[in-house]
Amino acid sequence: MNPTLADKIARAPKAELHIHIEGSLEPELIFELAKRNGVTLAYDSIDALRAAYAFTDLQSFLDIYYAGASVLLHERDFHDMTLAYVERALADHVTHTEIFFDPQTHTERGVSIATAVAGIESALAEGERRGLTSKLILCFLRHLPEEDALKTFDEALPLFDHYKHRLIGVGLDSSERGHPPSKFERVFAKAREKGLKLVAHAGEEGPPAYVFEALDLLKVDRVDHGVRSMEDPALVARLADSRIALTVCPLSNLKLRVFDDMAKHTLKALLDQGVAVMINSDDPAYFGGYVNANYFAILDALKLNDAECYTLLKNSLEASFVTDAERLAMVAKLDAYWHGGHNGHGAA
Ligand code: HPA
Ligand code: ZN
Repeated sequence: MNPTLADKIARAPKAELHIHIEGSLEPELIFELAKRNGVTLAYDSIDALRAAYAFTDLQSFLDIYYAGASVLLHERDFHDMTLAYVERALADHVTHTEIFFDPQTHTERGVSIATAVAGIESALAEGERRGLTSKLILCFLRHLPEEDALKTFDEALPLFDHYKHRLIGVGLDSSERGHPPSKFERVFAKAREKGLKLVAHAGEEGPPAYVFEALDLLKVDRVDHGVRSMEDPALVARLADSRIALTVCPLSNLKLRVFDDMAKHTLKALLDQGVAVMINSDDPAYFGGYVNANYFAILDALKLNDAECYTLLKNSLEASFVTDAERLAMVAKLDAYWHGGHNGHGAA
């Protein structure tokens, strides 16, 4: 790895746009919350749980990820989980983050969406005071019927109004294969009518056709993962022309065997074709690293140069769901840092 460039990236101001907050739950906190809440886990030690993080595909990860989330019962649990992420993000010089949460994982255990959002919100407000701006995106679980997503959306309606400046969008996650975006056309149309931002996981394990569906049927503003788009030149051209961003997560892709070698990752090819890609951590507690570790892994494997790293960072800021004025201010800070000497204080 190029140590100078890695160090420059580490301290660069950046946005993270693909992070499942339940995927930031470290094993230590899972055990602490299990004890606090009297929840019994299927693993008898932190090491045993960590040893189970040997995934073979997306589903093998999701099974353990949902089991880990079972310790979240009270507002305070969501707060503690989110504050731990805020601290890790600040340590990686993340200045803006857009966080996913999975309400259906919690409502099925009798935990209301309002409880989850209140706990996440209080930690994000604390993050704002410490220099990390943020948005929250409610994701539907695609392995469940669309009726469940519609019910979840209706339940969340008052929250979209109450937390207007934080809870700004909806997304689609969980098991991709066999659950195409078309299954969720109606609920996304409702979210669109409400003026919410729209994102969907597509082209992680699923084919390029799922990315087309996310664009054409769900009318998403960003695509999560989308790394299999590279298999279809027409799709690559469409993404490049429209500047619809792909929120790429290298360590996730490696751990879930989307690519068997990081050197085979499509990120650089997508970047070369003019697609707005950037780097994110997805589920950092499960995949071995927060956002900077993801930058280092891809920098090392694909031998990215200074200009390519700058583009990734800039794309993260430009693809954020913030006002134009906020976007310009964020990019100006990156430019001052990147081009004006990188002492970590944004000197220019
Ligand atoms: N893909 C789909 N669903 C998810 C993921 C992912 O990478 N992480 C958490 N839920
Ligand atoms: Zn994801």
